[in-house]
Amino acid sequence: MVNETAHESSSSMVNYLSFFVNGKKVIEHNVEPEWTLLWFLRNKLGLTGSKLGCGEGGCGACTVLVSQCVDPDSGHIEHRTVNGCLALVCSVDGCHVITVEGLGSVSKSNLHPIQSRLAEMFGSQCGFCTPGIIMSLYGTITSLPNSSSLTMHDIEESLDGNLCRCTGYRPILDAAKTFAKDINQLPCKKSSTSKITSTTFDKCHSFVEKNPSSLSQVEFPQELLHYIPQSIYIKGSLIEWYRPVTLSELLHLRHTYPGSASKLVFGNTEVQIETKFKRLKYPRLIAVTHVKELKEMQRTANSLILGAGVTLTQLQSKLVEWNDEKIDGGICQSLIDQLKYFASTQIRNVASLGGNVVNASPISDLNPVLQAANTELELRRTKDNSVRFVSMHEFFLSYRRIAMTDDEVLVAVHIPLPKPSTKYFLRAYKQARRRDDDIGIVSAGLQVQVEPVKSEVNQWRIVSARFSFGGMGPTTVMAINTQKELIGQLWTKTVIVKACQSALKELPLDEMTPGGQPEYRRTLLQSFMFKFYLYVCTKLRPSFVDEVDLSAVYPYDRPVSHGQQIIPERSESQKVVGTSLPHRSSYLQTTGEAKYTDDMPSLPGTLHAALVLSTQPHARIKNIDIGAASHVPGFVTFVNHQDVPGRNDTGDMVQDEEVFISSIVQCVGAIIGIVVCETEAAAYTAAGLIQIEYELLTPTILTIEDAIQQESFIGDEQRLRQGNPEKALAEAEHTLTGTLFIGGQEHFYLETNCCMAIPSNDDHELTLYSSTQNPSKTQELTALALGIDSNRVTCRIKRMGGAFGGKESRSITPCVATAVAAVKVGRPVRLNMERDIDMCVTGQRHPFKIDYNIGFTSEGRFSALDVRLWNNAGCSFDLSMNVMVRAMLHIDNTYQFHNVQVRGRVCKTNLPSNTAFRGFGGPQALLACETIVEHVAAHLKLDPFVVRRLNLYQEGDLTHFAQPLERWNIPRLFDELVKSSDFIERQKSVETFNKLNTYRKRGITILTTKFGIAFTAKFFNQAAALVHIYKDGSVLLTHGGTEMGQGLHTKMIAIAAEALGCDVNKVHISDTSTDKVANTSPTAASVSSDLNGMAIQNACEQIRQRLDAIRARDSNSHLSWEDIVKRAYFERVDLCAHGFYSAPDIIGADFVNNRASYNYFTQGAAVSEVELDTLTGDWHLLRADILMDVGTSLNPQIDIGQIEGAFIQGLGLFTMEELIYGDYTQHKWTKPGALFTRGPSTYKIPSFSDVPLDMRVSLLSDAPNPLAIYSSKAIGEPPLFLGASAFFALKHACIAYREQQGLSDYFTLHSPATVERLRMACADEFTQRACPKEHETFQARGSY
Ligand SMILES: Cc1cc2nc3c(=O)[nH]c(=O)nc-3n(C[C@H](O)[C@H](O)[C@H](O)COP(=O)(O)OP(=O)(O)OC[C@H]3O[C@@H](n4cnc5c(N)ncnc54)[C@H](O)[C@@H]3O)c2cc1C
Ligand code: FES
Ligand code: FES
Repeated sequence: MVNETAHESSSSMVNYLSFFVNGKKVIEHNVEPEWTLLWFLRNKLGLTGSKLGCGEGGCGACTVLVSQCVDPDSGHIEHRTVNGCLALVCSVDGCHVITVEGLGSVSKSNLHPIQSRLAEMFGSQCGFCTPGIIMSLYGTITSLPNSSSLTMHDIEESLDGNLCRCTGYRPILDAAKTFAKDINQLPCKKSSTSKITSTTFDKCHSFVEKNPSSLSQVEFPQELLHYIPQSIYIKGSLIEWYRPVTLSELLHLRHTYPGSASKLVFGNTEVQIETKFKRLKYPRLIAVTHVKELKEMQRTANSLILGAGVTLTQLQSKLVEWNDEKIDGGICQSLIDQLKYFASTQIRNVASLGGNVVNASPISDLNPVLQAANTELELRRTKDNSVRFVSMHEFFLSYRRIAMTDDEVLVAVHIPLPKPSTKYFLRAYKQARRRDDDIGIVSAGLQVQVEPVKSEVNQWRIVSARFSFGGMGPTTVMAINTQKELIGQLWTKTVIVKACQSALKELPLDEMTPGGQPEYRRTLLQSFMFKFYLYVCTKLRPSFVDEVDLSAVYPYDRPVSHGQQIIPERSESQKVVGTSLPHRSSYLQTTGEAKYTDDMPSLPGTLHAALVLSTQPHARIKNIDIGAASHVPGFVTFVNHQDVPGRNDTGDMVQDEEVFISSIVQCVGAIIGIVVCETEAAAYTAAGLIQIEYELLTPTILTIEDAIQQESFIGDEQRLRQGNPEKALAEAEHTLTGTLFIGGQEHFYLETNCCMAIPSNDDHELTLYSSTQNPSKTQELTALALGIDSNRVTCRIKRMGGAFGGKESRSITPCVATAVAAVKVGRPVRLNMERDIDMCVTGQRHPFKIDYNIGFTSEGRFSALDVRLWNNAGCSFDLSMNVMVRAMLHIDNTYQFHNVQVRGRVCKTNLPSNTAFRGFGGPQALLACETIVEHVAAHLKLDPFVVRRLNLYQEGDLTHFAQPLERWNIPRLFDELVKSSDFIERQKSVETFNKLNTYRKRGITILTTKFGIAFTAKFFNQAAALVHIYKDGSVLLTHGGTEMGQGLHTKMIAIAAEALGCDVNKVHISDTSTDKVANTSPTAASVSSDLNGMAIQNACEQIRQRLDAIRARDSNSHLSWEDIVKRAYFERVDLCAHGFYSAPDIIGADFVNNRASYNYFTQGAAVSEVELDTLTGDWHLLRADILMDVGTSLNPQIDIGQIEGAFIQGLGLFTMEELIYGDYTQHKWTKPGALFTRGPSTYKIPSFSDVPLDMRVSLLSDAPNPLAIYSSKAIGEPPLFLGASAFFALKHACIAYREQQGLSDYFTLHSPATVERLRMACADEFTQRACPKEHETFQARGSY
């Protein structure tokens, strides 16, 4: 009966969608309500410019602009950037959707200035993030009533929902700021020498001069100006979609479909996560987006009434309009503060206030503020036409359970305003792992009302208090007892300290707390209360608070960031090489026309694959049941080890892995099989239905410590010695020992692994399109698994959306598995690994444990070093031994230790196999080395700067692997940087700052680095290239390297043009393909420019010589390139050449003879200065100065891009990015062996607001390198370690605070220095209460 009523009403509803995309009308009758907007754009409209980076609203790659006329009378159009991966296509009915393709296109030569500037200012490397960033920026400009009112500040804030893993953000910000009206205020010195380039200033200004008065915008369709929303009902094959437009209609629908029969949805930011990741199923979605009654916002004399259906952006602007502390006691300001760091612009643009409240997340940001403000919720339902008000305090019953009946709808929240006569204060606090787009670890809304006792002597009595917290329990919780105890007490520090103790008792947390970090959370709770105490004091009477304590009161006000790049004069003898040629794909990337593997169209008959993964870390597979999966419509087959026609054994260096696990799984995330279906959605559904029965095995070894205890190692211990370390240690004036742990790092390339396998059944051939750094290995291992020769398999790769080592070996097995599936079914199969799967399957940077014993003199000169390194390899060999070897070879960094012993062991654990990552073990060893330096300096009470300078290697010194240091520029880099960064003066200012501020501390550090260039596996140091010149003079170049954003193809094209003597625009690279260049080495170890560049030069010179011979015979010496090529053809001269290069004099790593060699070392230095909030661990990088020796740069701007990108990636590695695996000791709250941090919501890479406020990069002048192509140096990996300068600067900030607390002993700071580790290192009375027994030595838990 009930259902009939609903259908009756649904019959009068519109049952199709109507909207516009890039100006073209779309009418969609056959829509499935679960389709996301992104899926629709990419798969139905073929608009592949918008990318799928994460599918959870965390990366911004899918950003599009949605515009809608919200008031047909005034014609007011609202523009919102949204995450296409979260928005459902049903939500855009009546809207105009603009994608990156709508702005401009290379083929039509009509690029929007945002697109061209980003390309020309090197704001795009791999380009995968670029369309999303373009759309965010376009949205910011469009949504302002007047684009010329845009400020740099607006721009910095508007990019909070976009991530870029390549650029380090500075060039993107520069390009974006050219649209700001206040660009002239960029605090950047104009260079005095004309030859020096200061990009930020000069280049930005050259664009600004060209700015039109208003920027071109895509026209809003006239038809939509008159759009009147109507009720919609869409019947999909799995679910139904309703969009009511009145409250009574909504209440009626909810009454008809109560409880789990329907799900209300507004922004879908939470519901999409539930359906996609938690696999919850809702039969009906009821969109509450168009119900007028939910959209009202008003301020009465007594309260603020906020409709549940306002977006957070709408709420934000209304609150700014209302904000008046005299009226609301800080309610508006607190909500504004919380909204500033609530998710991202894209999320706030669609997410609703009601959604946040009803979502009932224990870590909600808004609910603590609403609870502290004593908010009431207005709930309505059709039955009895009832309205009910529930206090927020009583609303949250238990984890995600709320006091709302099955058919109720939240209509509005009512926040009472304080009485004008009272002294009422409300503040909001939040601390997250990262400032931008991160959910709080603890958030708080703190409110107090006081009355004067003797206000002239600052005596105030507490009348009432409401302290509400997120992250301190299974719901948003209030410290009820604490609040009661406070009533009647005086507002003093003693009382607040007691309140902290009481709240800790009331809100206990233990090691099983979901999310972990109980000690940090307990500390934050107190820090917030203390900050609130001081805040109220300053409000009651400014002089109430000591000036040095004011640093605790207000958050850091982050100014606009800026940068500067200094490039030395270049040699005039080269025409192309050495110029800053823009990245060859940059325009295509900014228009979204650049195609990545997943953007390629499918051939007819293509099937889709989804991986079936192990859920146990160590177990025997007893049974696989595909029954339920095989009933999914579109299911084709399940593929496992029995389907492998050749060898199931696989692996990069050693074949100790299986393509599909045949019996014993060694980690969570091991590939057991592949489900192949007609559609991607069916494949995911079916994969989730495969039932696997396991017999659990022991032991389960997860950490380095476990492996050491169980003696679970891969290979033998590696040893390297120089001198007599035992004797030198015994004779040293001082010795120190210590241990350092360094966590792993997820590559977080924006494009996840994907591939397409196309079998050709007539000739037993297979073509693979794979996003891989290693085409030849992919070809070889695929052929092995298929039992065919390598000449039948071709692996092709156009470009990758970032890789960083993550696609060197771990991309291969999923690709081989897909190939096996394609051969089994005889049809093309494609696999696109979603972010969470990719993170679980493909391994990460190796965590390390490093023990050291250092001997040194009283002046700080090193005499001996004995180090032991262990890395966590995970469950297979992969590249772990090579990573260990590089770590052992980099333990000296730039210092002479004289007598050295290094031992390395590779630990085998039940985790996914860890793998290559930019730096390849080097950064971990370098961090240990610098930790040793700091330890020695602390012990001798010397400035680490002095110890560093004293121990630097000098020209000609031998490293600990007996390689002489030639063209050694480190002392010069160190001294030049000290001067150019004003290091000594700034050190003094830091000291002064620290004396004047109790709760904010600054730190400054200088570091140097050297990085060995060559593969340590000698045979890899070779490359080949193929050059074809066609009759029209165009050149097709193919080489063995792959393009992942690093600009390799751009550099190679420049080398070819230089060597051939032709125009650079004549040279083209199509792709990398194993049928053109065979036996390629992986594009890795930073050497690809060196090796492939030499091979290209070799090929081009062969042709050049042939052409020169023709020129010599011709009296007309001014023949054009085209003419000479034509002449050569008619003279039957070969216009093709194959080039080859093998690096000479490389011995690789020969530990038996205690020696190794690199081709040369890339060198650099950096200074970082930071400011730390010691009460929370929040910090800002105030300034970073980098001076890098890149030899004679092949392309200065691309090299600067590599330097900045690597620096920020290093910053992430050492300060922010924390992988958490469940285990038996550290993270008991999550499943052992399973990766908890498997998406951008939990794993935080640096974002736009982590860029240094002042970033200065210079390339060292006069530093030629005769050992590499055109005297250049490799640059991909070496600068990454320089990000550690911020790690040590932060450590110094902690030291300053600890000393103030009377703690002068050395302490170890393990990596990464997360906000948690930093706060807990700042041991004080708060940490003491949070962890009484160990607060001075407390170490936050980690996954190592
Ligand atoms: C990338 C990302 C970042 C995030 N960051 C944060 C953050 O920093 N802080 C934070 O607190 N949260 C964060 N969230 C959580 C989420 O965005 C918010 O809770 C948001 O406010 C939900 O609003 P919505 O309109 O999208 O809700 P939806 O997903 O549409 O709905 C959420 C829930 O509310 C219910 N609902 C919605 N409207 C009503 C109504 N009127 N009456 C009754 N029930 C209703 C729905 O049925 C559903 O159960 C984040 C989410 C994502 C995906
Ligand atoms: S793909 Fe949508 S935010 Fe990452
Ligand atoms: S250019 Fe931004 S992720 Fe690669």
